Amino acid sequence: ASHLSTARRKVVVSRDLGPDAMQLLRDNANLEVVLWPEDRVCDRSWLLENVPGSTGLIVLFTEKASPSGPGLKVVSTMSVGYEHVNLPALHKRGLRLGFTPDVLTDAVADVSVMLALMASRNAAYGVTLVHQGQWPPFAPFTLCGPQISTMQDSPTRTVGFLGFGRIAQATLARLVAFGITHCVYTSNPGSPPKLALESSLLERHPTLREVRRVDLDTVARESDVLFVLAPGGESTKHIVNEGFLRKMKKSSVLVNTARGTLVDSDALAKALREEWIWGAGLDVLEGEPCIDVNHPLLTEPRCAIVPHIGSATFDTRVGMAVLAARNLLGALNGTQMPAELDL
Ligand code: DGY
Repeated sequence: ASHLSTARRKVVVSRDLGPDAMQLLRDNANLEVVLWPEDRVCDRSWLLENVPGSTGLIVLFTEKASPSGPGLKVVSTMSVGYEHVNLPALHKRGLRLGFTPDVLTDAVADVSVMLALMASRNAAYGVTLVHQGQWPPFAPFTLCGPQISTMQDSPTRTVGFLGFGRIAQATLARLVAFGITHCVYTSNPGSPPKLALESSLLERHPTLREVRRVDLDTVARESDVLFVLAPGGESTKHIVNEGFLRKMKKSSVLVNTARGTLVDSDALAKALREEWIWGAGLDVLEGEPCIDVNHPLLTEPRCAIVPHIGSATFDTRVGMAVLAARNLLGALNGTQMPAELDL
């Protein structure tokens, strides 16, 4: 047995990934699975102690992952975002990185639409009133807000996207059913124009009249509902700042289901308080989960905030966990990683 155990390759898993994914890992007799035993974010000291000597590492976006130990071959993150992973260090050491795109696209697009509706329709404030026993008497304009769906003869509404990847496109597909006909988006300025994508979207959604790539100012100015769906990290930090928010329409709604760092929370609180925009729906917040409980955003009536639940459906989380396990196994067994990030 001692001979066997020395031949087993250690993999470190920073959080219990649920029965499906854990079973997949444990079915591999040649792996020794070292699992953070507690039901809370794994201590950094535990990771630093256990990663040396391992061949693979599975983390969540709550852990900062920089490779350590000469035998490490793969880092697999159970997230589509990867700003918590030190990409240059991985690349330099020839490590592979797995992530979990696609499986969460629909769940996050659903919550994006939910937050757009909540923000425009005063849902957060309405829920608060009900919880406080202050159901407001019905009156012609009580708790009214701008309508996202288009009624016959109502002016066309434009939906905007800051970042136009999988989740943004899935969000757009949902909004087409709300009668949205115009879409503007910005994407990485260095990337080539997405002409083929634009025409395929127009083909797929015959009622959509326009999908246009624009600059940041234009996306701020033209959007009735603006979705922030770009990656986190230094290059996108506070891309939605005071200057950006001041250009937005007074009746517009901002939704962030990407990373808190993209939106300057202080500027957004000011924008809501001074009514530069109508409302905001946030699934993510700068500094989460340790946010300032006294931050003015938390009490802005037209700001709906939920605690990073975009991908939180049972199906999606199982899909992400299983994909994270498969990515790790693919790299270790020399078969394909189903979702590898090109470093
Ligand atoms: C991710 O996957 O990056 C999310 O933020 C958690 O679903």
